[in-house]
Amino acid sequence: MQKLQLTLAIIKPHAVKNPVALSYIRNVIKNRFVVVKTKRVNLDLESAGNFYKEHAGKFFYNRLVTFMTSGSIDLHVIGHANGIELWRRMLGPTSVYKAQFQNPYCLRGMFGISDTRNVAHGSDSNDSAQREIKFFFPDFSFYKWHTNDEERYRKGPIIFNEFLFQHVRKL
Ligand code: RTP
Ligand code: MG
Repeated sequence: MQKLQLTLAIIKPHAVKNPVALSYIRNVIKNRFVVVKTKRVNLDLESAGNFYKEHAGKFFYNRLVTFMTSGSIDLHVIGHANGIELWRRMLGPTSVYKAQFQNPYCLRGMFGISDTRNVAHGSDSNDSAQREIKFFFPDFSFYKWHTNDEERYRKGPIIFNEFLFQHVRKL
């Protein structure tokens, strides 16, 4: 079995506030990925701006950063043999209009409201995943996880803890 690749999923504020969307998304995540870390946070403008700094200056930057501070966001570090691509495929196109036409059952097609409020974020490469996970989980060591924990998450035994919304070691 191929090694697990980690990615960061962020559920955006409008989806966290929508119980139907949130439970659908959570089911998809727990059925297809191992969930290594979960945390709910509220971003301030400065952190949201830092997270999206590669987009500074683009026309959508201000509205994106402001929107991301408008309510809680859910952060999930998730793993799968093809984690980065699989999660982005489940999200579908960035543009919700495009998503609704091209792939109506992708998450953005189903629950997206606009290109800013497009349900969730997914890291776009291994380097981005590493940087983004560090940004939100500064104590999490990518290297240590791959060295010490990856095999157990891949082969088990692990169980899903609904309360933590995380896979944990089966005792
Ligand atoms: P993401 O980073 O959120 O997973 O999405 P992505 O790679 O598909 O899109 P990216 O180009 O990285 O853009 C980051 C977020 O900025 C917002 N955006 N709005 N035309 C627009 O109004 C526009 N373009 C991008 C989206 O919310 C996108 O998720
Ligand atoms: Mg992106």
